[in-house]
Amino acid sequence: MKPPRTPQELVVRTEKMVYGGQALARADRFVVFVDDALPNETVRAVLYKKKKQFAFGRAVEILEAAPERIPSDCPWTGDCGGCTFRHCTYPAQLRFKKEVLVESLHGVPGAQELVRDLVPAEQTTDYRNKMVFSFGATMEGELRLGLHRRGSFIHIIPADRCLLQSAASREIVRRVAALAKQMNIPAFHEIQKTPGLRSLTIREARGTNQRMVELVTTTAYPGLAEHLLAILEDLVDTLYFSIDTNIYGSPRPEKRTILKGTGTIEEVLNGLRFRIGPDTFFQSNTAQAEKLFTRVRELATLHGRPSTALDLFAGTGPIALHLASIAGRVIGVESWEPSVLAARENLALNDIQNVDMIAADVNEALPPGIPEKVDLVVVDPPRPGLSPEAIAWIAKLTPDTILYVSCNPSTLARDLKLFLQSPYHLEAIEPFDLFPHTFHMETLALLRRNP
Ligand SMILES: C[S@@+](CC[C@H](N)C(=O)[O-])C[C@H]1O[C@@H](n2cnc3c(N)ncnc32)[C@H](O)[C@@H]1O
Repeated sequence: MKPPRTPQELVVRTEKMVYGGQALARADRFVVFVDDALPNETVRAVLYKKKKQFAFGRAVEILEAAPERIPSDCPWTGDCGGCTFRHCTYPAQLRFKKEVLVESLHGVPGAQELVRDLVPAEQTTDYRNKMVFSFGATMEGELRLGLHRRGSFIHIIPADRCLLQSAASREIVRRVAALAKQMNIPAFHEIQKTPGLRSLTIREARGTNQRMVELVTTTAYPGLAEHLLAILEDLVDTLYFSIDTNIYGSPRPEKRTILKGTGTIEEVLNGLRFRIGPDTFFQSNTAQAEKLFTRVRELATLHGRPSTALDLFAGTGPIALHLASIAGRVIGVESWEPSVLAARENLALNDIQNVDMIAADVNEALPPGIPEKVDLVVVDPPRPGLSPEAIAWIAKLTPDTILYVSCNPSTLARDLKLFLQSPYHLEAIEPFDLFPHTFHMETLALLRRNP
């Protein structure tokens, strides 16, 4: 039998934050990315992954703390995979995120000096309008309902005190966990694939206070649906009990039963109404999304009103709906059919007539139905960003303005470099904090066609 390997420990001095929420330190010839550390700290780090030129570690002792360090208000800091910045003051979180963005834009002509301070969030706790919790068990077999332990897909941390959700959401978690224990229903086991409870999703429309809850199990349990309705009746507007027999990957319910309500809730964002179903993508921080979309609309009219605008990666249409009041005609393009249908419903809900939604893959060729000349293109891709093909066909349409909404500074930098090979220049880069206490940010970049 091989002797157990003792984890390697290092004392390092950290330099700066990197995208991902770690602090970078240098030790001899390699770089160490340290979890739970801030810049300018001396920490004792335990390495958990080592490559030839870099390693990943975790700060287990802070020998010299940065002035920005504060005691965390969450008992699960360091263990939970959710927040990475709970031990850091909020102004410093914003500063570190800006530094990461500036560094990511290194090599993009004219970009770094344009980066503004992040637009901060007024509400830094209880801000998420959607939370997905998983069921699991302790080593002793006790059921748990909560969030995944950092880096683990089976270990679950209890979430009845998670500070990213509202008090009502915490209460729902508490009641459902108690019910499961009382009924003695096990959690689905991710490795052994034994049946049981899988996930609990809570969505809250912040503009209307409506709440939707979905409990997903691998099989039906006698009496569970009835009890679920009884314990949550006063807290939810729409309640789903769903069965998912796909035992590999994340839950994808194939049988849904609506126990209460219409099956959707309604959100209001900047006065626009959005219907949200159990599978609908919607920005998870309503208050900050309002600021982001307001700014998209402002920048879209900076040089006059567009007569034709494209909203690419449109989702359920929030950007297209915002542009409808300032553009002559808007075309939204989205590849996921249910979102296209939801976007069309949202257009009808708001009595908007000048927006069309097309189902197509933006990353392939120019979708059919797009006019030869457009004035404005807004893109809001997922983390992998745009394909070179998409950048080429967008540039060929010669829009006067391109607005890029990005959730990933590295793919933003890569794509901006490509756009700048066409006759475009950068006019603004404005980051927004939609995710306080995490390393994530949204960035709005404005490109203008050269005269
Ligand atoms: C970051 S979300 C933005 C959605 C919307 N703008 C919003 O704010 O709610 C990205 C969207 O792009 C869609 N998407 C992903 N890949 C796509 C592709 N290749 N072509 C078109 N849409 C795509 C996803 O389904 C998702 O709705």
